[in-house]
Parts: sequence; structure tokens; C-alpha cells
Amino acid sequence: MNPVVPSETSQGSEKTKPHALGKPAATPFESRILGTGSYLPPKLLTNTDLEKLVETNDAWIVERTGIRQRHIAADGEYTSDVGLVAAKLALEASGLTANDVDMIIFCTVSGDQPTPSTACVLQKKLGARNVMSFDLNAACTGFVYGLTIADQFIRSGIYEHILVVGAEVLHPFVNYKDRETCILFGDGAGAVILGRSNALPRTESTPPSKTDSKIYSAHLRADGSLGELFTLRAGGSAMPLSAEALERGDHYLSMKGREIFKHAVRTMSDVCQQALDANGMSMDDIDWLIPHQANLRIIDAVGKHFGIPAEKVIVNVHDTGNTSAATVPIALDQGVRDGRIRRGQNVLLTAFGSGLTSGSLLLKY
Ligand code: ACO
Repeated sequence: MNPVVPSETSQGSEKTKPHALGKPAATPFESRILGTGSYLPPKLLTNTDLEKLVETNDAWIVERTGIRQRHIAADGEYTSDVGLVAAKLALEASGLTANDVDMIIFCTVSGDQPTPSTACVLQKKLGARNVMSFDLNAACTGFVYGLTIADQFIRSGIYEHILVVGAEVLHPFVNYKDRETCILFGDGAGAVILGRSNALPRTESTPPSKTDSKIYSAHLRADGSLGELFTLRAGGSAMPLSAEALERGDHYLSMKGREIFKHAVRTMSDVCQQALDANGMSMDDIDWLIPHQANLRIIDAVGKHFGIPAEKVIVNVHDTGNTSAATVPIALDQGVRDGRIRRGQNVLLTAFGSGLTSGSLLLKY
């Protein structure tokens, strides 16, 4: 296996040594994904559509990104709405109702508005109890961060059922005159209900077996010194929205694509290796790799680094584009629902995103 080159930043390599969560201490509880759900809005934005907006073409986009189309939320369909559909499906798959939810973590960079949080909006729309609900912004790594936090609350015995949503309506933040970014992003949502491992999902007839589910470990990072590589500048306290900001297009996503590409491959390879090392595993022990869906070439490069067969990597970027915090839970749900991911299998999630954040989470489904 190739050693992974540590990331180099302006802060020097020593400071970038990650303070990883790693393997949690043993407790009476392990976490189990009780149910998953996802939603992609029906409206499509194809490469041919984009050819009419910017100087690009289908062949270039497919060759450089693997993306063929993206799903775009309808007018009046907000991030809480796409998250709501995914959340309801995850609850249904778990055999639970909104009343059973003890906590809501809503991972997003495109919340309905700065405040109240989209988690609170979802809590109301779902009719969930008056439970702890908050937004989590770790960009495209958001869902991996969110699932890690949920795992801590399950393992500590504090909560029994936690709804973790990764959802984005990104299209209002995309500049459809910038060909480097507008080809990449789409809208969508994924969700899971995390519960106690010995809790049988009420829709499953088989009892929990010796291959009981768990989250083995999580390795999370953030390197703020690389924050400038991917930004949305306007709308915060540093740059409130103004006519000038709008004129400059500072309310749109902006990125240095080529540099992000390099960091993405390096950092996802690195955190996946950490997950394997922490658990004494090799990629042969992994049944499914679910990487953040940003660009097929990034996914392929990570797969090649580990020599993992393409059939073991869940990929949907051709259909969805980059849906930021939603990519991992959407791919997870699709793998579960089409029967590829089965109980007892080892699934490695990994993502990178603005911040720059990155992380891996290894679980037994
Ligand atoms: N159509 C046609 N040509 C284009 C397009 C386009 N849509 N976009 C750029 N080009 C041109 C460039 O102008 C450049 O032309 P030049 O050589 O004359 O200067 C040429 O194509 C090559 O450009 P590169 O930037 O080298 O192209 P690259 O192969 O790196 O692909 C891309 C660009 C797709 C943006 C890639 O770098 C990438 O995917 N990076 C990662 C981006 C990412 O993941 N962002 C999100 C991260 S954070 C998060 O997920 C929220």
C-alpha cells in the first residue's frame, strides 16, 4: 500500500497532524443505522442545458468531472423541504415516527436562512418533539461530522434515536456565468436515523446477529489555513450583503478547483488510511467505500491509491453532481435501498470540503 503524503499547508506539517477522534472508548452502547432516506428533486440541469449558459460542452464536463446532470430544487422548495423528504423516508425505514426523535443534526452550508437554524425549521415541519436541534456547517464533510457527533450521544447512552440530515439547495449560490463552478453543483438530501445497536429496526424481521452494527471510528480534520480555496464571502458579519457585494458576485461560491482537487485526493486517502490503521484493517476488509461525490476523477484517484475495485465504490456523481453535505448520505441510502449494502458489511465513508474540512468514518452497517 502506498504511504500517503501528509498535507502541506502554510502552517507547516507538524501543526497539521490531526487531532483525530479515532476509536471511541468502550461503552454499553454501540450505534446502528436504523434507517436511511434520500431525495433528489425531479427537475434536471443537464450538461446540454449548461452549454446554453456558459462556454462549455458535454464532452469536457463528462471527461473532467464525470457529471452528466444535477437535480435542482423547484422554486419555493428550500433546504428544509428537501431534508424533510429524506428525513421522513429515513424514519419510515426505521419504523419510527417523528415523536421518537431525540435530537436533530442538520448538516448544510445552504440553510434556509442564517437564523433560525434549518434544523429548527425541520423540527417544526416534521412535527418532532421539542428536542435539541442544530445546524452543522462542515461543508461537504458535514454529514461525516454529524454522524460522528450523533454516535457520541448514542454511545454515551444519552439519546436513543438521532436524526442526521445532510441537505443542500445550492443553486441560489452558484454563479451560472462561471463555468468552473456551475458545472459541479446540484441540490439534494440524505438522512439517517442513528440508534442503539441492539435496537432492532421495527421494519426488519431478522434479529440483531453477532455481526451487530457499530461505528468503529471517526477521523475528522479541519485546516483553516486552506480556507481561501473555497469560499462564499458575502452574507456574514465580515461582509454583510450589499449592492457592492452583489455586484462583485461575492454571494456566489468561488473556488480554486485545481488546488482543491489535489488536496481532496491527498486528504481523503490520508483519513481513510487512518481509519484502516486504527482498526487493524486493510481495504480488503472494506465492503463499500462511499466517498464525497465532487468529481469522478477525485473518486477514481482515491480508489486507485488503495487499489480498491471500482465495484466496491458507490458512485452517483454522474446523476447528482456535488450536493455538498448531502452526497454521502444520498449514496449511502441508494446503496442500502438497492440491496448493495447489507447488514454486517463494513462501510467506509469519507469526505472533504470547504474549510478545508475532511474526515472518514468506518462503520459496520
Ligand atoms: N468547460 C470547458 N472548459 C473549462 C471549464 C468548463 N466548464 N472549466 C474550466 N475550463 C478550462 C479552463 O479554463 C482551462 O483552460 P486553460 O487551460 O485554457 O486555462 C482548462 O479548462 C483546464 O482547467 P483546469 O482547471 O486545469 O481543469 P481541471 O481538469 O482541473 O478541472 C475542475 C476543473 C473540474 C473544477 C476540477 O479542478 C475539480 O473538480 N476540482 C475540485 C473542485 C471541487 O471539488 N470543489 C468543491 C470542493 S468543496 C465542496 O465540495 C463544497
